Amino acid sequence: MMRLDKFLCDRNLGTRSQVKKDIKAGLVLVNNSRVLQPERQIEEERDLICYKGQLCTYEKYVYYLLNKPAGVVSATEDRHHRTVLDLLGEDRRKDLFPVGRLDKDTEGLLLITNDGILTHDLLAPGKHVEKEYECHLAAYFDDRQRAALEQGVDIGEKKRTRPAVVRILDDRKITLTITEGRFHQVKRMLHAVENEVTYLKRIRMGAVLLDEGLPRGGYRKLTKEEVESLKYEKNTYGVREDREVQA
Ligand code: URA
Repeated sequence: MMRLDKFLCDRNLGTRSQVKKDIKAGLVLVNNSRVLQPERQIEEERDLICYKGQLCTYEKYVYYLLNKPAGVVSATEDRHHRTVLDLLGEDRRKDLFPVGRLDKDTEGLLLITNDGILTHDLLAPGKHVEKEYECHLAAYFDDRQRAALEQGVDIGEKKRTRPAVVRILDDRKITLTITEGRFHQVKRMLHAVENEVTYLKRIRMGAVLLDEGLPRGGYRKLTKEEVESLKYEKNTYGVREDREVQA
């Protein structure tokens, strides 16, 4: 159950005061009857709500894949910068948030949802969902750096990083797959092996790949299969053998 004005507002159909005005003006039908009270409780999963002649379908959880461009911050609100939610335009709902963070200058795959449980499970330290990043590097990448990253490196915290998977693209370009989400982790890992990241893009999270057809700043809904794969991820990764390397 929820208030009618909140239901419309959460669907981004107007500010709370706008939708209240529209309800009082008779622009909203609930199950084909005009309702004039913004505070009317509705069964959002069952009732048919019609706003200005349009049926508002109910989706409890929504999941988007955004191709984050550089220059926007992974937050729901920011006084000084555009946020990833600003990129959703009409689809922006009040209850959406990004699943974790990418740095302001990092590009690529960012999930946005209102599913708090899935988000918590994907980000929980023990779950180890794989995140793969394309890294452009300032210096040549060599076998010594590779071996260190694959073993786990000291980035100045109590524990070394978990072993990463390295894929070489060319002599200054790799992909790095990690299963943690420490602050600036990829940049700090490359710094720890005496290299530097000059460009970073996330290209995969679990089984969900960055859709190369999406322009920078573009987004689309996740498919049912992609959502299911993330839920499966959360269930299986948590019980994998822990191969953490102690510092
Ligand atoms: N690691 C980083 O250093 N930055 C990111 O944005 C994501 C992972």
